[in-house]
Amino acid sequence: MDYKVKDMKLAKQGSLQLEWAAMHMPALGDVKKEFERSKPFKGLKISALLHVTKETGILMLSLKAGGASVSLGAGNPLSTQDDIAAALADNGIKVFAWSGQSVKEYNENVHRVLDFDPDIIIDDGADLHAAAHAKGVKIDVIGGTEETTSGIHRIKAMEAQGVLKYPIIAVNNANTKYLFDNRYGTGQSTLDGIIRGTNIFLPGKMVVVGGYGWVGRGVAMRFRGMGARVIVTEVDPMRALEACMDGFDVMQMDDAAKVGDIFVTATGDTDIIVGKHFNSMKDGAILSNTGHFDVEVDVKALEGMAVGKRRIRNNLDEYTLKDGRRLYLIAEGRLVNLGAAEGHPSEVMDLSFCNQALSAKYVVDRHGQLGNKVYKIPDDIDNMIASIKLKSMGVKIDTLTDKQKKYLDSWDLDV
Ligand SMILES: NC(=O)c1ccc[n+]([C@@H]2O[C@H](COP(=O)([O-])OP(=O)(O)OC[C@H]3O[C@@H](n4cnc5c(N)ncnc54)[C@H](O)[C@@H]3O)[C@@H](O)[C@H]2O)c1
Repeated sequence: MDYKVKDMKLAKQGSLQLEWAAMHMPALGDVKKEFERSKPFKGLKISALLHVTKETGILMLSLKAGGASVSLGAGNPLSTQDDIAAALADNGIKVFAWSGQSVKEYNENVHRVLDFDPDIIIDDGADLHAAAHAKGVKIDVIGGTEETTSGIHRIKAMEAQGVLKYPIIAVNNANTKYLFDNRYGTGQSTLDGIIRGTNIFLPGKMVVVGGYGWVGRGVAMRFRGMGARVIVTEVDPMRALEACMDGFDVMQMDDAAKVGDIFVTATGDTDIIVGKHFNSMKDGAILSNTGHFDVEVDVKALEGMAVGKRRIRNNLDEYTLKDGRRLYLIAEGRLVNLGAAEGHPSEVMDLSFCNQALSAKYVVDRHGQLGNKVYKIPDDIDNMIASIKLKSMGVKIDTLTDKQKKYLDSWDLDV
């Protein structure tokens, strides 16, 4: 079977979405043109596990244009856009993804994608890398890439334990990824998911952001921009201090739980909002998570404590507790920006997916030269992506003169 999607009749609508995304991804468009010319993936099989959005669609078509045979599964049971999945299947991508998969279906699709025996593995969260290793990676796999912070934690753990079987490029750790996608992309799309999930009015609301990393910074910044009063929780003193000096209230979750109207977790860690917090929350509090895995809000505990549960609107569940208080959970505690909205806008994914495309080419170009380690994207590729993006935005910057270069490299200044 070459694909499994919800409804192939959606392909036409999906193609229009792909056109719209392509128009807003000029940098990846340039990379695609170069791939069409040089065919870096000729004869190679690429398997990917990414959120099946229109932006991912453009990445998949770029890899195909480079000569690859591409298979794709969803990065998350809720995150597939069914029209895009259909349009990609129509374009010869082997897609195994639909919205609202059960966990069993999700795992089956991970294995279906791996059954294509990939030469390159592209991942977001490291489920595909982990499954490939559990299955027994074929000996000549060239390498892989990893899109997000939580996935980097996992592949670094594999590297530290000496079990990593092929080189992986840490796409997340490129400056042109985390500084923009994690911060501004998630900042905007998380707000979008919470608004689409609830249509709540934000000015004056107490918003609690768990974690002040790249994602947390972006989320906190954008909520403040909407007039919300933002509280940050942290475990890292440096990040907590930064949040204070950025003008946010910083407190422990035990205290924040009592005053928050809206909660967003963004830590990549587990058990950020748990039973004791549900016990002290206000009636009507809204809960959401934008970290990669659905372990930040303890949904199991909430299910156990609730005496009633109703689906109030698309992607919004109401839990009634014994004392009558009602708590509202968006997108089942999974990535709110992908579960209740469409993920990041195309312009920012343009940067992230240039990194994915060029990292895949990088491992192919260096086949046999890299160890079984986690690698950072070389600075020249990172800087080149920034330059392509600036050019596509019509922004020109100055260049250092010879005198300036000399000045910056000197120590014996004439002072
Ligand atoms: N929703 C999306 O589209 C999207 C996009 C990018 C990244 N992510 C995910 O978001 C998560 C965060 O990514 P990031 O790049 O900001 O990571 P990061 O490492 O920069 O930040 C995480 C922060 O959480 C803090 N933290 C850890 N445990 C905590 C706890 N118990 N309480 C409070 N704070 C705690 C850490 O100190 C750190 O400052 C990851 O799971 C990542 O994969 C999601």
